[in-house]
Formats: sequence, C-alpha cells, structure tokens
Amino acid sequence: MYQHLPVYAGDPILSLHEAFMADPRPNKVSLSIGLYFDEQGRLPVLDSVRQADKKLREQERPSGYLPIEGAPDYRAAVQKLVFGADSAAVAEGRIATIQGVGGSGAIRIGADFIKSFMPGSDVWVSDPTWDNHESLMQGAGLKVARYPYYDADSNGLRYDEMLAFFARLPAGSVVLMQPCCHNPTGIDLSKAQWSGVIQVMKDGGLVPFLDMAYQGFGEGIEEDAWAVRAMVEAGLCPLVTNSFSKNFSLYGERCGGLSVVCPSADEADRVLGQLKAGIRRVYSSPPLHGERLVAAVLDTPALHQQWVAEVKDMRERIKRMRVLLAERLTAGLPGMSVDFLTEQHGMFSYTGLTSDEVDTLREKHGIYLVRSGRMCVAGLNEGNVQAVADALIVVLRARS
Ligand code: LMR
Repeated sequence: MYQHLPVYAGDPILSLHEAFMADPRPNKVSLSIGLYFDEQGRLPVLDSVRQADKKLREQERPSGYLPIEGAPDYRAAVQKLVFGADSAAVAEGRIATIQGVGGSGAIRIGADFIKSFMPGSDVWVSDPTWDNHESLMQGAGLKVARYPYYDADSNGLRYDEMLAFFARLPAGSVVLMQPCCHNPTGIDLSKAQWSGVIQVMKDGGLVPFLDMAYQGFGEGIEEDAWAVRAMVEAGLCPLVTNSFSKNFSLYGERCGGLSVVCPSADEADRVLGQLKAGIRRVYSSPPLHGERLVAAVLDTPALHQQWVAEVKDMRERIKRMRVLLAERLTAGLPGMSVDFLTEQHGMFSYTGLTSDEVDTLREKHGIYLVRSGRMCVAGLNEGNVQAVADALIVVLRARS
C-alpha cells in the first residue's frame, strides 16, 4: 500500500540530534541543534520558571481547552515583549496575535494565512536560512526562493546586493528576515542597515515576515526587538513570529506566537478571525501548561525581573564561549582570522567548515555540527571548549 513512498532522508538538524543522543562516546559534544546548555552541559530549568511552575501546580487548575487563539494574558504578554510596553500599534488594537505551537507552528499558521489571503505573493528567505523556513512555507503551498545574505569570502553580509535585490521584487512579495541572532549564520544587520531595508520595503510595497526565535540572546531583550519596532513605527505591517523555546528553556512546551500588524483595528479583528479559522482546522487550540508558565513569569514583576537576569546570564555565557573558542583557535592557528566568531550574534556561528570537515569532526572526534558548518556556540562550556578547539585545529590544518 505504501511501497511508492520515498524514504524520508531525515531532518538536517533533528536527525543529527538523534544521532548524537545515540552516540555512546562519553566525550561527545552537541554543537548541532539550537539548544542552550549551561556550564555543566545541561539544559537549564530557569529559576523564574521553576517558581512559576511550583505556584501553578499548587493551584491545581483544571486543564480545559484554551480559546482557539490562545490565552488572553499570554497573547498580551507576547505583544508587550515583542512590540514594547509603549507600542502605539498595541494600544490602538492594530495587532492580531495568536499563541503558536512553538515558533515553527506560528510560522506555519502565518504561511497558511499568506497562502489564503495574499494570492500571488511569493516568499523570499535569506541565503542561507534556517532549514525549516523553506519547508514550512512550501508545506503551505507557497513558492519560496532566496535573496542574497551571506558572503562566504568575508564571512559577512552581502548587504548592498540584498538591498538591490529587494528593490527589484514585485510589490506584495513576502520577505522573511530575522530581527536578531540570524540562524544559521549569526550575522545580523546594524540599525543603519535595517533602516535601509525599511526604506526599500516601504518604497516597494514589500511585506516583512519577521521570525524572532532568540529574543534576548543577541544584545538584550528590548534591543533584539529593535528592528520589529522600527518597522512598525515606520508604518510597515509585518507578520512577526516569536518563540519562548530558547529564552525560557521551554523547548518541549512549544510556546510561541504569531502577530500580524494591521493598518487598523478593524482589519486586526478580521485577521484574528481568519487566523482562528486556520488554527481550528490544523490543531484546534494550543497547549496549556507552557503558556501558563510564560504568562506567569512575564506578568509577575519579581519573576519577570529574575527572568531578564537569567536571559542575560545565558547571553553573556554564550559571548564568553565565543571569546574562549576564538582565543584557543588563535593560539593553535596563529595567522588565521577567527574574528567572525566574536562578531556574530546569538547561538549560532557559521564556521565556513565544509560538510566533509563536519563529518570528520563527528566521526573522529564526537563533535556534532550541522553539515552546513553551523555551530551552536551555546553547546560549548569551559570543560569542552579546549577539546573542540583542538579538533577544529586538526581539521583546519589538514586543509593546507
Ligand atoms: C535549530 O535551528 O537548531 C533549532 O531551531 C531547532 C530546530 O527545530 O531546528
């Protein structure tokens, strides 16, 4: 009956994580999937979340269905965090926000919305982008293609080319960008560069789709949302997805959001209605426990403050690991520039390693990176960074 089905090749990120979990070597290092590990190599349970969880469990609240669009307090908290406490668009009721089943689920609901209500709009993603962006959009039946982004020669951004490319896109094109901590490259735009993008998007009638999965892991919780807020202030109407997987260390709870900024409150009501219709036919309503945790932390001033400090600790640890790895590599490979490591932002670094070199790292040294050369810097710690640097030095020396 199913003989004609092609064999699934596996997901480029999740399959590697499965292989890592099955790897019996005690000194293996996970630098593939985007998980933040602490100094002891564990997934942290944030203290703010632990306290909120304890309180919620004491309350023994029943587990009824949430509204299709998610819980009102959670959705309000998403809006505040993404668009800012003093956002005029939020105050004017111009933003339709739904709880997403993780960032991925939110993107898919956004993609379905584009497919239904923006006929003829193609989606443009950065070259390269997170592997699943293309799959999620294509899964909704959208046509997806890439715009110039990463410059392998300089390990930087092809900014002028990207801007010129945007200027040639037909009005109504959807352009997916990441406001902070670009996955997979770690290369973000400066504020001046974002301003240039905003102007070109306004001039050309483009629709920004902003995927923010790492808010707080770049420069700060407020700082990382700068591009989102600047676009809204400039009069653009972006679709914005966000995720609490990383910044709450709540990967398995699948907590995210999709917010569609609209020209008017009336349009936001219509959009929200159609998002609800879209959700109802996919998963009916979202899960409960994770959103309760997130809303409890964000709505309780003391816990919120503690969470901000915990995100800061994670961000600063990642930055320290970038510096440490760069120092160790420079010591072993004098003359080779690894400045990109400390210039990139967030969890990921595009190392420039080839897929063969990545395979060698995995097979010979038990060090897992994504085959594109993407390294999750948040998997490094003081205990494994020297071993990772040593293995990288061996692999890089073999080049010459
Ligand atoms: C990643 O990019 O590794 C994470 O966002 C996890 C995933 O779902 O791919």
